[in-house]
Amino acid sequence: MSWNTPLAQRVINLKPSPTLAVDAKAKALKAQGADIINLSAGEPDFDTPQHIKDAAIKAIQDGFTKYTPVAGIVELREAVTNKLKRDYGVDYALDEIVVSTGGKQGLYNCFQAIIDPGHEVIIPVPYWVSYPAMVELAGGSPVFLSSRPDKNFDLDLDELASLINEKTRAIIINSPSNPTGAVYSEDTLKSLAQMALDKGFYIITDDIYDEIRFDGKGPENPVSVMPEARNHVIVANGVSKTYSMTGWRIGYLAGPKPVIKAATKIQSQSTSNPNSIAQKAAQEALSGPQDCVKQMVSAFKERRDFIVERLNTIQGIKCNVPQGAFYVFPDVSSYFGKSAEGFEIKGSLELADYLLENAKVACVPGIAFGDDRFIRLSYATDKAQIEEGLNRLEEALGKLS
Ligand SMILES: Cc1ncc(COP(=O)(O)O)c(C=O)c1O
Repeated sequence: MSWNTPLAQRVINLKPSPTLAVDAKAKALKAQGADIINLSAGEPDFDTPQHIKDAAIKAIQDGFTKYTPVAGIVELREAVTNKLKRDYGVDYALDEIVVSTGGKQGLYNCFQAIIDPGHEVIIPVPYWVSYPAMVELAGGSPVFLSSRPDKNFDLDLDELASLINEKTRAIIINSPSNPTGAVYSEDTLKSLAQMALDKGFYIITDDIYDEIRFDGKGPENPVSVMPEARNHVIVANGVSKTYSMTGWRIGYLAGPKPVIKAATKIQSQSTSNPNSIAQKAAQEALSGPQDCVKQMVSAFKERRDFIVERLNTIQGIKCNVPQGAFYVFPDVSSYFGKSAEGFEIKGSLELADYLLENAKVACVPGIAFGDDRFIRLSYATDKAQIEEGLNRLEEALGKLS
């Protein structure tokens, strides 16, 4: 009998994460000895703070190495509720929190919990690469909402209103944003929360970069600005970015009890509890000293100032000043249609390829985030690397004609 190794349609349609692919390619070239400057990484370059590592070491020594409750240990969920109270001024009960294996699993479970085939989820462009795939894996349809670089990538609330219909189940927002670093204003968040209340849909607020802000303000989301909308809001967050803990894989959801119960049920039939040792580390991260966060944010701010100023001195590049996260998203479309050294730059994909091959600088093409006019550069790397990367970038761009 012939056997053609059949696969499920859902996985045939699924595209692998483009950001992870670029990062993997840059790392592979580096491993082969190429002098690559990697400005594609989506993770802080700092080590996990020592007190957090110590909590994990203690967990191992104490034998805290068994299954835990599926939704996470009570102490960690308490630490999450304290964080949400401290930063957002909102009280959550323990059964309104589920801890997952990274922010990514929290979001995945969330979509699985609320989306049925036929539902639409509004995704502002540019978006984090995994949102459309997660919506589709849940059987839903992504509906894209454009945003305006000239308005600092703010939400266009009129266009949003025009996209809402009886199939709209949710909108997902990410402020500060990956890839733009944009932060929505309090007014935008309030209007969005009011719309969710009036029209009846969920807001999934991906707050993973919430503490990495440079505008002097604390974290904000639709619940903090409009607590009466809380039954419409699902908060997704985690410790990966704020505490430089990307490899530990701890994230969480906070939201209405039925949604959290459903997400926990999905988790119970897939991965069970997140890693017990990492949970202890995350508990320490959220409830221990927070000066490590301030130090990392201040280093990011210094680099942000440097990279934005330097990029805007390069002819043909336009770069907004991001208010958070650790990415810049410059408009490079003025180079499209040009060529050099056998490369024809049709769009962001060819430009990113050209920069990797010619300048040995890795960045992520904007098309991965739904907007081909841009590239994403991460400044989660030291200043000397950033400086050298931008010098190379300028030189390579200068060859295009
Ligand atoms: C916008 C956004 N949301 C969620 C995540 C997932 O974070 P985690 O590493 O905790 O799964 C990332 C990570 O890159 C991200 O950029």
